[in-house]
Amino acid sequence: MLRAPAILLMISCSILLAQEAEFAYMGVNNCKMCHNKKDKGAQFDIWSDGPHAKVFETLKSEEALKIATGLKLEGPPHEAGECLVCHTTGWGKADGYEVLSAEFIANPENARAVKKNDYKANVGCENCHGAGSGYKSKKTMEGIFSGEIDPATVGLIYPNKEVCLTCHNEKNPNFQEEFDFDAMVAKITHPYPEEFKATKGTSPGK
Ligand code: HEC
Ligand code: HEC
Ligand code: HEC
Ligand code: HEC
Repeated sequence: MLRAPAILLMISCSILLAQEAEFAYMGVNNCKMCHNKKDKGAQFDIWSDGPHAKVFETLKSEEALKIATGLKLEGPPHEAGECLVCHTTGWGKADGYEVLSAEFIANPENARAVKKNDYKANVGCENCHGAGSGYKSKKTMEGIFSGEIDPATVGLIYPNKEVCLTCHNEKNPNFQEEFDFDAMVAKITHPYPEEFKATKGTSPGK
Protein backbone atom coordinates (compact mmCIF):
# COMPACT_ATOMS: atom_id res chain seq x y z
CA MET A 1 0.00 0.00 0.00
CA LEU A 2 2.86 2.35 0.81
CA ARG A 3 4.56 1.63 -2.46
CA ALA A 4 2.67 3.97 -4.82
CA PRO A 5 3.19 7.14 -2.79
CA ALA A 6 6.84 6.22 -2.31
CA ILE A 7 7.32 5.94 -6.06
CA LEU A 8 5.49 9.24 -6.63
CA LEU A 9 7.74 10.87 -4.08
CA MET A 10 10.80 9.51 -5.83
CA ILE A 11 9.58 10.80 -9.19
CA SER A 12 8.79 14.26 -7.86
CA CYS A 13 12.16 14.41 -6.09
CA SER A 14 14.03 13.58 -9.27
CA ILE A 15 12.06 16.23 -11.18
CA LEU A 16 13.01 18.78 -8.55
CA LEU A 17 16.66 17.70 -8.71
CA ALA A 18 16.65 17.93 -12.51
CA GLN A 19 15.34 21.51 -12.34
CA GLU A 20 17.87 22.55 -9.76
CA ALA A 21 20.75 20.96 -11.65
CA GLU A 22 20.00 23.17 -14.67
CA PHE A 23 21.93 26.15 -13.28
CA ALA A 24 25.16 26.05 -11.30
CA TYR A 25 26.32 28.25 -8.43
CA MET A 26 29.12 30.69 -9.27
CA GLY A 27 29.99 32.41 -5.95
CA VAL A 28 29.71 36.08 -4.90
CA ASN A 29 32.97 37.14 -6.59
CA ASN A 30 31.25 36.55 -9.92
CA CYS A 31 28.54 39.08 -9.09
CA LYS A 32 30.94 41.52 -7.43
CA MET A 33 32.84 42.26 -10.64
CA CYS A 34 29.78 43.91 -12.19
CA HIS A 35 27.70 44.90 -9.17
CA ASN A 36 29.93 47.09 -7.09
CA LYS A 37 29.79 50.50 -8.75
CA LYS A 38 28.56 53.44 -6.65
CA ASP A 39 26.45 54.97 -9.43
CA LYS A 40 24.63 51.65 -9.82
CA GLY A 41 24.07 50.97 -6.12
CA ALA A 42 27.21 49.00 -5.04
CA GLN A 43 25.17 45.90 -4.16
CA PHE A 44 28.26 43.89 -3.25
CA ASP A 45 29.50 46.36 -0.60
CA ILE A 46 26.02 46.54 0.94
CA TRP A 47 25.84 42.75 1.07
CA SER A 48 29.37 42.56 2.60
CA ASP A 49 28.32 44.86 5.44
CA GLY A 50 25.05 42.99 6.03
CA PRO A 51 24.09 39.92 8.06
CA HIS A 52 24.26 37.32 5.27
CA ALA A 53 27.99 37.83 4.63
CA LYS A 54 28.74 36.64 8.18
CA VAL A 55 26.55 33.58 8.53
CA PHE A 56 29.42 31.15 8.01
CA GLU A 57 31.47 32.74 10.82
CA THR A 58 28.35 32.48 12.98
CA LEU A 59 28.67 28.70 12.75
CA LYS A 60 32.02 28.94 14.54
CA SER A 61 30.57 30.88 17.52
CA GLU A 62 30.05 29.61 21.08
CA GLU A 63 26.32 29.83 20.50
CA ALA A 64 26.55 27.61 17.42
CA LEU A 65 28.61 25.03 19.30
CA LYS A 66 26.00 24.97 22.05
CA ILE A 67 23.22 24.36 19.53
CA ALA A 68 25.25 21.60 17.88
CA THR A 69 25.96 19.91 21.21
CA GLY A 70 22.27 20.07 22.08
CA LEU A 71 21.43 18.39 18.77
CA LYS A 72 24.24 15.84 19.30
CA LEU A 73 25.81 16.63 15.91
CA GLU A 74 28.90 14.58 15.14
CA GLY A 75 31.24 17.21 13.68
CA PRO A 76 31.59 20.96 14.26
CA PRO A 77 28.60 23.04 13.02
CA HIS A 78 30.58 24.63 10.17
CA GLU A 79 31.07 21.14 8.73
CA ALA A 80 27.57 19.80 9.42
CA GLY A 81 25.03 19.57 6.61
CA GLU A 82 22.31 20.23 9.21
CA CYS A 83 23.65 23.79 9.50
CA LEU A 84 25.38 24.41 6.14
CA VAL A 85 22.13 24.07 4.23
CA CYS A 86 21.05 27.57 5.41
CA HIS A 87 24.44 29.10 6.23
CA THR A 88 26.17 28.68 2.81
CA THR A 89 25.44 29.05 -0.91
CA GLY A 90 24.02 25.95 -2.56
CA TRP A 91 25.26 23.33 -0.12
CA GLY A 92 24.43 19.87 -1.54
CA LYS A 93 23.47 21.28 -4.97
CA ALA A 94 25.28 21.60 -8.35
CA ASP A 95 28.54 23.46 -7.77
CA GLY A 96 27.38 24.59 -4.35
CA TYR A 97 29.51 24.97 -1.22
CA GLU A 98 31.39 21.82 -0.20
CA VAL A 99 33.18 20.70 2.95
CA LEU A 100 36.80 20.24 1.82
CA SER A 101 39.21 17.98 3.64
CA ALA A 102 42.28 19.39 5.40
CA GLU A 103 44.52 17.49 2.94
CA PHE A 104 42.73 19.00 -0.06
CA ILE A 105 43.10 22.52 1.36
CA ALA A 106 46.78 22.02 2.26
CA ASN A 107 47.69 21.06 -1.33
CA PRO A 108 48.82 24.24 -3.20
CA GLU A 109 47.52 22.80 -6.47
CA ASN A 110 44.01 23.21 -5.10
CA ALA A 111 44.38 26.89 -4.18
CA ARG A 112 41.97 28.08 -6.88
CA ALA A 113 39.32 25.51 -6.05
CA VAL A 114 39.60 26.37 -2.36
CA LYS A 115 39.17 30.07 -3.07
CA LYS A 116 36.21 29.40 -5.33
CA ASN A 117 34.60 27.37 -2.58
CA ASP A 118 35.24 30.14 -0.03
CA TYR A 119 33.16 32.52 -2.14
CA LYS A 120 30.23 30.18 -1.50
CA ALA A 121 30.58 30.09 2.26
CA ASN A 122 27.83 32.44 3.58
CA VAL A 123 24.45 33.33 2.15
CA GLY A 124 25.40 35.04 -1.11
CA CYS A 125 23.59 36.76 -3.97
CA GLU A 126 22.59 33.42 -5.47
CA ASN A 127 20.73 32.17 -2.38
CA CYS A 128 18.15 34.85 -3.12
CA HIS A 129 18.57 35.52 -6.85
CA GLY A 130 19.08 31.92 -8.04
CA ALA A 131 22.18 30.00 -9.22
CA GLY A 132 23.97 32.31 -11.66
CA SER A 133 25.42 30.18 -14.47
CA GLY A 134 22.53 30.92 -16.83
CA TYR A 135 22.19 34.68 -16.33
CA LYS A 136 25.57 36.10 -15.30
CA SER A 137 26.88 37.03 -18.76
CA LYS A 138 26.75 40.76 -19.47
CA LYS A 139 24.61 40.28 -22.56
CA THR A 140 22.01 38.26 -20.68
CA MET A 141 22.00 40.63 -17.71
CA GLU A 142 21.46 43.62 -20.00
CA GLY A 143 18.69 41.77 -21.84
CA ILE A 144 16.92 41.13 -18.53
CA PHE A 145 17.37 44.73 -17.46
CA SER A 146 15.91 46.08 -20.70
CA GLY A 147 13.00 43.64 -20.58
CA GLU A 148 14.05 41.61 -23.66
CA ILE A 149 14.83 38.40 -21.75
CA ASP A 150 12.40 36.70 -19.37
CA PRO A 151 14.52 36.29 -16.20
CA ALA A 152 12.81 33.01 -15.26
CA THR A 153 14.17 31.30 -18.40
CA VAL A 154 17.77 31.95 -17.31
CA GLY A 155 17.23 31.27 -13.60
CA LEU A 156 17.22 34.83 -12.22
CA ILE A 157 14.84 35.25 -9.31
CA TYR A 158 13.31 38.45 -7.92
CA PRO A 159 13.04 37.24 -4.33
CA ASN A 160 9.71 37.29 -2.54
CA LYS A 161 8.81 36.22 1.00
CA GLU A 162 8.82 32.50 0.04
CA VAL A 163 12.52 32.73 -0.82
CA CYS A 164 13.34 34.13 2.63
CA LEU A 165 11.19 31.50 4.31
CA THR A 166 13.30 28.68 2.85
CA CYS A 167 15.75 29.60 5.68
CA HIS A 168 13.85 31.94 7.98
CA ASN A 169 11.53 29.21 9.20
CA GLU A 170 10.94 27.04 12.26
CA LYS A 171 13.69 24.59 11.22
CA ASN A 172 16.25 27.24 12.12
CA PRO A 173 17.38 26.59 15.70
CA ASN A 174 17.14 30.34 16.42
CA PHE A 175 13.64 30.76 15.05
CA GLN A 176 11.71 33.20 17.17
CA GLU A 177 8.89 35.09 15.57
CA GLU A 178 6.77 35.71 12.50
CA PHE A 179 8.86 36.88 9.48
CA ASP A 180 7.96 40.48 8.59
CA PHE A 181 9.04 40.60 4.93
CA ASP A 182 9.01 44.38 4.42
CA ALA A 183 10.87 45.10 7.65
CA MET A 184 13.44 42.37 6.95
CA VAL A 185 14.02 43.47 3.33
CA ALA A 186 14.51 47.03 4.58
CA LYS A 187 17.46 45.75 6.65
CA ILE A 188 19.21 44.21 3.63
CA THR A 189 17.99 46.43 0.76
CA HIS A 190 20.49 47.23 -2.02
CA PRO A 191 18.48 49.21 -4.58
CA TYR A 192 19.54 51.03 -7.73
CA PRO A 193 19.91 54.78 -7.24
CA GLU A 194 16.83 56.65 -8.58
CA GLU A 195 18.66 58.25 -11.54
CA PHE A 196 19.92 54.85 -12.66
CA LYS A 197 16.52 53.23 -12.22
CA ALA A 198 15.11 55.72 -14.69
CA THR A 199 17.18 54.01 -17.42
CA LYS A 200 15.56 50.65 -16.69
CA GLY A 201 13.35 48.87 -19.21
CA THR A 202 10.29 46.80 -18.43
CA SER A 203 11.87 43.85 -16.59
CA PRO A 204 9.85 42.67 -13.60
CA GLY A 205 12.45 43.81 -11.05
CA LYS A 206 11.55 46.81 -8.88
C1 HEC B 1 29.35 40.68 -16.67
C2 HEC B 1 28.68 41.55 -15.73
C3 HEC B 1 27.65 40.97 -14.79
C4 HEC B 1 27.78 39.88 -13.95
C5 HEC B 1 28.96 38.93 -13.83
C6 HEC B 1 26.56 39.83 -13.17
N1 HEC B 1 25.71 40.86 -13.54
FE1 HEC B 1 23.86 41.22 -12.79
N2 HEC B 1 23.62 42.75 -14.12
C7 HEC B 1 24.59 43.20 -15.01
C8 HEC B 1 24.06 44.32 -15.78
C9 HEC B 1 24.82 45.09 -16.85
C10 HEC B 1 22.73 44.51 -15.32
C11 HEC B 1 21.76 45.60 -15.80
C12 HEC B 1 21.79 46.74 -14.83
C13 HEC B 1 23.15 47.35 -14.66
O1 HEC B 1 23.70 47.91 -15.62
O2 HEC B 1 23.69 47.21 -13.54
C14 HEC B 1 22.48 43.51 -14.28
C15 HEC B 1 21.30 43.38 -13.58
C16 HEC B 1 21.09 42.50 -12.51
C17 HEC B 1 19.88 42.41 -11.72
C18 HEC B 1 18.63 43.24 -11.89
C19 HEC B 1 17.86 42.93 -13.13
C20 HEC B 1 16.65 43.86 -13.24
O3 HEC B 1 15.71 43.51 -13.94
O4 HEC B 1 16.64 44.91 -12.61
C21 HEC B 1 20.08 41.46 -10.76
C22 HEC B 1 19.11 41.00 -9.69
C23 HEC B 1 21.43 40.93 -10.97
N3 HEC B 1 22.00 41.59 -12.04
C24 HEC B 1 22.01 39.96 -10.18
C25 HEC B 1 23.26 39.38 -10.44
C26 HEC B 1 23.83 38.30 -9.67
C27 HEC B 1 23.18 37.66 -8.44
C28 HEC B 1 25.04 37.99 -10.23
C29 HEC B 1 26.01 36.91 -9.83
C30 HEC B 1 25.56 35.52 -9.92
C31 HEC B 1 25.21 38.88 -11.36
N4 HEC B 1 24.12 39.71 -11.46
C32 HEC B 1 26.32 38.89 -12.20
C33 HEC B 1 25.84 42.68 -15.16
C34 HEC B 1 26.35 41.56 -14.52
C1 HEC C 1 16.36 26.29 8.04
C2 HEC C 1 17.57 27.08 7.94
C3 HEC C 1 18.59 27.04 9.05
C4 HEC C 1 19.24 25.92 9.53
C5 HEC C 1 19.02 24.48 9.13
C6 HEC C 1 20.18 26.41 10.52
N1 HEC C 1 20.11 27.77 10.61
FE1 HEC C 1 21.15 28.96 11.91
N2 HEC C 1 20.03 30.55 11.35
C7 HEC C 1 19.13 30.56 10.32
C8 HEC C 1 18.52 31.88 10.22
C9 HEC C 1 17.48 32.29 9.20
C10 HEC C 1 19.07 32.66 11.24
C11 HEC C 1 18.76 34.10 11.57
C12 HEC C 1 17.57 34.18 12.46
C13 HEC C 1 17.18 35.63 12.69
O1 HEC C 1 17.95 36.34 13.33
O2 HEC C 1 16.12 36.04 12.21
C14 HEC C 1 20.02 31.78 11.95
C15 HEC C 1 20.80 32.18 13.03
C16 HEC C 1 21.72 31.37 13.68
C17 HEC C 1 22.51 31.78 14.82
C18 HEC C 1 22.35 33.06 15.61
C19 HEC C 1 22.99 34.26 15.15
C20 HEC C 1 22.60 35.39 16.09
O3 HEC C 1 23.03 36.49 15.76
O4 HEC C 1 21.88 35.20 17.06
C21 HEC C 1 23.32 30.73 15.17
C22 HEC C 1 24.33 30.66 16.28
C23 HEC C 1 22.98 29.65 14.24
N3 HEC C 1 22.01 30.08 13.35
C24 HEC C 1 23.55 28.40 14.28
C25 HEC C 1 23.06 27.30 13.57
C26 HEC C 1 23.54 25.94 13.77
C27 HEC C 1 24.62 25.51 14.75
C28 HEC C 1 22.83 25.15 12.91
C29 HEC C 1 22.94 23.64 12.72
C30 HEC C 1 22.64 22.84 13.86
C31 HEC C 1 21.91 26.03 12.18
N4 HEC C 1 22.09 27.31 12.60
C32 HEC C 1 21.02 25.58 11.22
C33 HEC C 1 18.81 29.50 9.49
C34 HEC C 1 19.16 28.20 9.73
C1 HEC D 1 19.96 30.50 2.45
C2 HEC D 1 19.35 30.91 3.71
C3 HEC D 1 18.78 32.31 3.83
C4 HEC D 1 17.93 32.97 2.96
C5 HEC D 1 17.37 32.46 1.64
C6 HEC D 1 17.64 34.25 3.57
N1 HEC D 1 18.31 34.38 4.76
FE1 HEC D 1 18.32 36.00 5.99
N2 HEC D 1 19.59 35.06 7.25
C7 HEC D 1 20.07 33.77 7.12
C8 HEC D 1 20.95 33.44 8.22
C9 HEC D 1 21.66 32.11 8.42
C10 HEC D 1 20.99 34.58 9.05
C11 HEC D 1 21.76 34.71 10.36
C12 HEC D 1 22.82 35.76 10.32
C13 HEC D 1 23.79 35.57 11.47
O1 HEC D 1 23.57 36.14 12.55
O2 HEC D 1 24.80 34.87 11.29
C14 HEC D 1 20.12 35.58 8.41
C15 HEC D 1 19.90 36.86 8.91
C16 HEC D 1 19.08 37.81 8.34
C17 HEC D 1 18.88 39.15 8.85
C18 HEC D 1 19.54 39.73 10.11
C19 HEC D 1 18.91 39.19 11.35
C20 HEC D 1 17.67 39.92 11.74
O3 HEC D 1 16.73 39.23 12.23
O4 HEC D 1 17.61 41.15 11.61
C21 HEC D 1 17.98 39.77 8.02
C22 HEC D 1 17.44 41.17 8.15
C23 HEC D 1 17.63 38.83 6.96
N3 HEC D 1 18.33 37.65 7.20
C24 HEC D 1 16.75 39.07 5.93
C25 HEC D 1 16.44 38.18 4.90
C26 HEC D 1 15.52 38.45 3.81
C27 HEC D 1 14.69 39.72 3.66
C28 HEC D 1 15.52 37.34 3.00
C29 HEC D 1 14.76 37.12 1.74
C30 HEC D 1 14.75 38.19 0.74
C31 HEC D 1 16.47 36.40 3.58
N4 HEC D 1 16.99 36.93 4.72
C32 HEC D 1 16.79 35.18 3.00
C33 HEC D 1 19.79 32.90 6.08
C34 HEC D 1 19.00 33.20 4.97
C1 HEC E 1 18.87 37.79 1.36
C2 HEC E 1 18.46 37.87 -0.01
C3 HEC E 1 19.29 38.66 -1.00
C4 HEC E 1 20.66 38.59 -1.18
C5 HEC E 1 21.66 37.76 -0.40
C6 HEC E 1 20.95 39.48 -2.28
N1 HEC E 1 19.81 40.05 -2.75
FE1 HEC E 1 19.66 41.34 -4.32
N2 HEC E 1 17.68 41.64 -3.91
C7 HEC E 1 16.98 41.00 -2.91
C8 HEC E 1 15.64 41.58 -2.82
C9 HEC E 1 14.55 41.18 -1.84
C10 HEC E 1 15.58 42.59 -3.84
C11 HEC E 1 14.42 43.54 -4.19
C12 HEC E 1 14.12 44.51 -3.07
C13 HEC E 1 15.19 45.48 -2.64
O1 HEC E 1 16.34 45.49 -3.08
O2 HEC E 1 14.90 46.33 -1.81
C14 HEC E 1 16.88 42.58 -4.51
C15 HEC E 1 17.23 43.42 -5.56
C16 HEC E 1 18.44 43.38 -6.25
C17 HEC E 1 18.78 44.18 -7.42
C18 HEC E 1 17.85 45.16 -8.11
C19 HEC E 1 17.80 46.46 -7.38
C20 HEC E 1 16.68 47.34 -7.87
O3 HEC E 1 16.58 48.49 -7.36
O4 HEC E 1 15.88 46.93 -8.73
C21 HEC E 1 20.07 43.86 -7.78
C22 HEC E 1 20.85 44.43 -8.95
C23 HEC E 1 20.53 42.88 -6.83
N3 HEC E 1 19.53 42.61 -5.92
C24 HEC E 1 21.78 42.31 -6.86
C25 HEC E 1 22.32 41.55 -5.82
C26 HEC E 1 23.72 41.16 -5.72
C27 HEC E 1 24.77 41.47 -6.76
C28 HEC E 1 23.84 40.46 -4.56
C29 HEC E 1 25.10 39.90 -3.92
C30 HEC E 1 26.24 40.82 -3.76
C31 HEC E 1 22.52 40.38 -3.94
N4 HEC E 1 21.63 41.06 -4.73
C32 HEC E 1 22.22 39.70 -2.78
C33 HEC E 1 17.44 39.98 -2.10
C34 HEC E 1 18.77 39.60 -1.98
